Amino acid sequence: MRVLVSGGAGFIGSHTVVQLVAAGHDVVVVDSFANAKPSVAGRIEALTGQPLELHAFDLTDHDKTEHLFAEDSIDAVIHFAGYKAVGESVERPLDYYENNIGSTISLLRAMERHGVGKLVFSSSATVYGADPPVPMREDLPTSATNPYGWTKVMQEQIFRDVATASNAAGRSMRIALLRYFNPVGAHPSGTMGEDPADVPNNLMPYIAQVAVGRRERLGVFGDDYPTPDGTGVRDYIHVEDLAAGHIAALGRLEQVEQPVSVWNLGTGEGTSVLELLHAFERACGRELAYEILPRRPGDIAASYADPSRAHAELGWRAEKSVDDMCADTWRWQSQNPEGYPSG
Ligand code: WQD
Repeated sequence: MRVLVSGGAGFIGSHTVVQLVAAGHDVVVVDSFANAKPSVAGRIEALTGQPLELHAFDLTDHDKTEHLFAEDSIDAVIHFAGYKAVGESVERPLDYYENNIGSTISLLRAMERHGVGKLVFSSSATVYGADPPVPMREDLPTSATNPYGWTKVMQEQIFRDVATASNAAGRSMRIALLRYFNPVGAHPSGTMGEDPADVPNNLMPYIAQVAVGRRERLGVFGDDYPTPDGTGVRDYIHVEDLAAGHIAALGRLEQVEQPVSVWNLGTGEGTSVLELLHAFERACGRELAYEILPRRPGDIAASYADPSRAHAELGWRAEKSVDDMCADTWRWQSQNPEGYPSG
């Protein structure tokens, strides 16, 4: 299929583009580079062995989005593009609603005008809200505790309403909502990985920057949670497994009857902050400094998936271990101490 990948220069997008090409798909990327560096394109091309068709614009530009669909013959869309920093979303809610919701509406309008009826959406376990029962199942109610999370809840609702209306009007539409748990890791070549623009909000990239000497020590946000070692427990999933989940969901959309399908993409296993830190020490071969800090507001004690629906319906299962995640992250970070080249 010819697949448009929005946000295809981002962390998960770039890894998915490489796997789409390997699976025989034609790929075209649109990315505003608000949260990615242009040098990622060269890394993708080195891995795929072919030129990358890339359009650099913001999907909230309706005219440019319409022009792309008019000039191309897109069969399906994988929609990664969006802002994703929880804390930033609290400070800049309007930017998050305008960008995340606006880009989705612009994309859906172009899809409708050009008869594109398949879309895979980058959703998040954040839609399970504050303190959901674990393991999280797809039939839990959705809610959020921050504007970023609300943009994901709202986008899921928009996809449901648009898919229902399209199918009722005789325009076939099949949408997959993929709820990621905690994406980490890097391409095993060490040439692609996570490259946060500023001080990392997320645990794995912060640990990697301590290991490579960019940060002095890790701050552990609380060790008094009701978890085995008192630190937060999360379901870390390797970005390569996550990318494979998108390929599987895209294929599944050819067969499903229902307009919208929801799948958790997680391992189903929980790992604590200190367990991840010690796994990274094994990967980089040295001790990493840390200090215990107060809890981070809004954090929950434990989050991990029930991935059984994706296993059964997608024939997909996360294969990589936490040690794989740390080894691949370390290879990327040690080969690219400052991340991707700027400019
Ligand atoms: C993991 C654990 C922290 C940093 C977030 C978003 C979620 C999704 C994934 C987009 C927690 C602890 C962290 C640090 C720490 N993003 N931690 N020191 O919060 O589970 O999820 O990223 O969809 O929407 O909310 O991930 O990596 O920030 O935190 O102790 O410097 O590590 O308290 O227990 P989180 P995280």
